[in-house]
Amino acid sequence: MENTSIAIKTNDLTKRFGKRNAVDAINIEINHGEIFSLLGKNGAGKTTTIKMLCCLLRPSSGSAEIMGYDIRKSPLEIKRIIGVSPQETAIAGHLNTKENLLLIGGVFGLKRGLSIERAKNLMELMELEDRKDQAQKLSGGMQIRLSIAIALMSEPQILFLDEPTLGLDPHARKSVWNYINKLKREKTILLTTHYMEEADSLADHIAIIDNAQIITSGTSAELKHKHESIQSLKISADDISSDILDGLKNKGMEVISTMNSIVINSVELDFYSIINYLQTKNIKIKGIQMQEPTLEEVFLHLTRKEVKNENH
Ligand SMILES: Nc1ncnc2c1ncn2[C@@H]1O[C@H](COP(=O)(O)OP(=O)(O)OP(=O)(O)O)[C@@H](O)[C@H]1O
Ligand SMILES: [Mg+2]
Repeated sequence: MENTSIAIKTNDLTKRFGKRNAVDAINIEINHGEIFSLLGKNGAGKTTTIKMLCCLLRPSSGSAEIMGYDIRKSPLEIKRIIGVSPQETAIAGHLNTKENLLLIGGVFGLKRGLSIERAKNLMELMELEDRKDQAQKLSGGMQIRLSIAIALMSEPQILFLDEPTLGLDPHARKSVWNYINKLKREKTILLTTHYMEEADSLADHIAIIDNAQIITSGTSAELKHKHESIQSLKISADDISSDILDGLKNKGMEVISTMNSIVINSVELDFYSIINYLQTKNIKIKGIQMQEPTLEEVFLHLTRKEVKNENH
């Protein structure tokens, strides 16, 4: 039986450019109404994945279904139900904000009245002024908001946002997060970002893609839990000398010290050997606190060059 709660499903989706695998047999499932974030270093394969799912690029092998439609067989049906805000944004620079939106309304064959109404609502939602300036004269952040509004013009069920907050100032980024949150549950959203905080706060599920392959996936909490061995340990104690710090560093640990505490970031923390070591040095430990890794720490650890793929 087909699982109807799934909006996007890929099956060994692969894209090769010459000999290079840009996307290598990835399998992801995205539920209706959820925000799914694809994280990965530059060149990991995020945009290529989105382009295949939007039917802008044909897969070399494997397949994917968007709301039950096969990306290889039904691109027209798929284009009707998706909206895309591409990494390089897709605005017509010589048109103003409203004209850009009306143009897309026209592309989707909306009646003029409906098109004007949607444009007005979207400009309100994205806090875009009805300026007469050409879109190319808008600031980068405004252009991104317009790009998202354009993607929403056809009232798509599925929205692809490829780095929607790239280069935005912290205020603008927070407001884009607000808009995305407003769309949550109504739309299924695939979001790529290099801001871990963004994925952490917005995404229901996260997948990390590295060297064209999905290396881990789950909720943010699951990822942190799954990789809790990279947690850090905070030890409070007086009189932590530089000799002791050096001793820990010599054991291959990354140690940050303050006046009366040390924080040890270690890939594989050997809790007991650390405590034993400090006791042999007659350090009076006042407190010990294990700190869960942040999503950024999980990401940095898993996508380091020397880390082997978890699944392969
Ligand atoms: N049209 C193309 N021809 C050849 N190689 C390509 C093409 N498009 C992408 N690639 C390559 O595919 C790989 C994945 O690129 P992609 O744009 O998907 O990465 P990304 O994860 O989106 O990176 P970024 O974070 O920098 O946006 C890269 O090695 C890239 O150079
Ligand atoms: Mg990209």
